Amino acid sequence: MTHHDSAYILMDAMKLRLVYYPDPILRKPSAPIKEVTKELREAIPQMFDLMYGHRGIGLAGPQAGVPQRVVVANIFGDPKKKEEEKVFINPEILDRGGVMAEEEGCLSLPGLSAKIRRSAWVKVKYRDLDGQAWELQCEGLWAKLFQHEVDHIDGLLMVDKMTAADLKQWRPLLQELEEDHAAKREPARKRTRRVEAAEL
Ligand code: CO
Repeated sequence: MTHHDSAYILMDAMKLRLVYYPDPILRKPSAPIKEVTKELREAIPQMFDLMYGHRGIGLAGPQAGVPQRVVVANIFGDPKKKEEEKVFINPEILDRGGVMAEEEGCLSLPGLSAKIRRSAWVKVKYRDLDGQAWELQCEGLWAKLFQHEVDHIDGLLMVDKMTAADLKQWRPLLQELEEDHAAKREPARKRTRRVEAAEL
């Protein structure tokens, strides 16, 4: 059985579902987490399953319908690499610098990819599931991931940061997603290509 198959079986049994653009859930800033409750602990493995099932490397609470400041990530996107699984509680960007504009994709915007202008490095602060506080500075893919996911918990999406030309180019896809949402169906269009290591 492939990863893909097993992920689908897990998804069937799950309560959480992936939330797609333009669902208003994605636009509401998420609440800070005061305490890691039993419910949140139970939601986290489901968030990982949802992320792997859609071949992502990062997923923010609101994308799973959990309006809390929690992010899960596995930079390899490989469910076998459990040791690479990270959970970020209340992630915050403390400082940033430089500029990069690299291709990104978003699990909530299936089929879309665009270069987004981001800071080249960020200094971030978060807590882990044990309540331990961490501060670290990162660049490259991790910097991109943190900026993308913190945007999610602030209610922001890639479409807010795309160039006017990219928005125009992607309007037909956005229109389809808007129609799918209005008709209460899963996005009709299958992802046509994988955005290498950047489905967030
Ligand atoms: Co995203």
